Amino acid sequence: MTGCPFLGRKHQLFTSNFTQADEEDDSQKGLNKASKGGIVYGEYLQLDKVLNAQVLQSQQKGNKIHDEHLFIVTHQAYELWFKQILWELDSVRELFIKNHVRDERNMLKVVSRIHRITMIFKLLVDQFSVLETMTALDFFDFREYLSVASGFQSLQFRLLESKIGVADHLRVAYNKQHYRDSFHGDESETLLRSQEEPSLLRLVEKWLERTPGLEGDGFNFWGKLHVNIEEGLKLEKQKLEKISDDEEKRDRLEDLNKQTEVFTSLFDPSRHEHLLNKGERRLSYKALQGALMISFYREEPRFQVPFQLLNALMDIDTLMTKWRYNHVCMVHRMIGGKAGTGGSSGYYYLRSTVSDRYKVFVDLFNLATFFVPRAWIPKLNPQIHTFLYMAECYDSSYNSDSSQDSD
Ligand code: HEM
Repeated sequence: MTGCPFLGRKHQLFTSNFTQADEEDDSQKGLNKASKGGIVYGEYLQLDKVLNAQVLQSQQKGNKIHDEHLFIVTHQAYELWFKQILWELDSVRELFIKNHVRDERNMLKVVSRIHRITMIFKLLVDQFSVLETMTALDFFDFREYLSVASGFQSLQFRLLESKIGVADHLRVAYNKQHYRDSFHGDESETLLRSQEEPSLLRLVEKWLERTPGLEGDGFNFWGKLHVNIEEGLKLEKQKLEKISDDEEKRDRLEDLNKQTEVFTSLFDPSRHEHLLNKGERRLSYKALQGALMISFYREEPRFQVPFQLLNALMDIDTLMTKWRYNHVCMVHRMIGGKAGTGGSSGYYYLRSTVSDRYKVFVDLFNLATFFVPRAWIPKLNPQIHTFLYMAECYDSSYNSDSSQDSD
């Protein structure tokens, strides 16, 4: 008889009349497979490279400063996670580029990977607190050894921004220079290439433009919504005209006029174009319509996963903004108003990047401006309702093997 594998050894000794053999509990059973050859932990993870990559400049110069180790490890951990985010991002972009998203079963993969990116970002937002255990004075002790090195030169961070879709022309100028000027040779080319490839924003835009129900000769969501909103606003106005209290009537009519202006601009394509040129909108007019349609009918089975995707994309923007914010707060604490090692104004430059200019999916946030009472949302006709409800959604070329993936 052997002891219960779920009881600790100490507990077992007290519970009954175990023999010496009983004391050799199941936790000691097993084979040392590593002795039979094959790749072992350290080799598999190439730890000889990873764990030998912490070279303290202070130590090299004969003045070892304890906290420089934390500074290096923290940055390396960030870069490793950036690498994983890029890995996921590239695979998602490929699913869109190769049009695998036409088969809606692949949308789950897209959403899961975007969700994974957001989970990593959550970690990265919080990770600054570890580095913040270093005081500004401790940092000051080794800052001179950083020379001109700066996070501004992080290639992976720039790739991440451009692959998601941060617009070049909306970036805050850095010492009046283009941010790509900090990169040379292969790095500069890699960055340029990433800007020429379609970003996640552009791919999602094309996908949204195909939202079923937008077709003018079909359900015509946009046309119907326009009619309903005009009708709804007219009825609302008639109701308000009947209010006897003059002050209340004036205030509520004023609110209604503002609302009417918002909707007049929504249904004006030239206004959309104008906002696009100003960088205040980023999606095409058709894609914006698709996003609004998905939001209104999010409960329909075929729109549930797309709706989750729109939410996850907003999460990416929110978390990147939080990253920028936490980073700039830490920088302020560490170097006050001093210039950065990379040569920018430091805190002041970074503060200006915590802005909507860097939000890629800003249109998705602004959708809520255009939400209307449920009664104004066009009723689905039987055709579109069946289409959104029934899952006759896969194309016959579908094959669930990994050739659908970029792996
Ligand atoms: C003591 C800690 C840190 C300080 C004092 C600091 C300081 C700065 C400063 C002053 C800049 C502006 C560019 C310059 O003039 O150098 C900058 C940019 C940047 N840093 Fe840090 N940083 C710290 C930690 C980190 C960490 C842990 C990361 C993680 C990878 C990071 C990533 C970046 C990135 C990506 C930029 C470019 C941001 C942009 O241009 O939008 N930094 N940092």
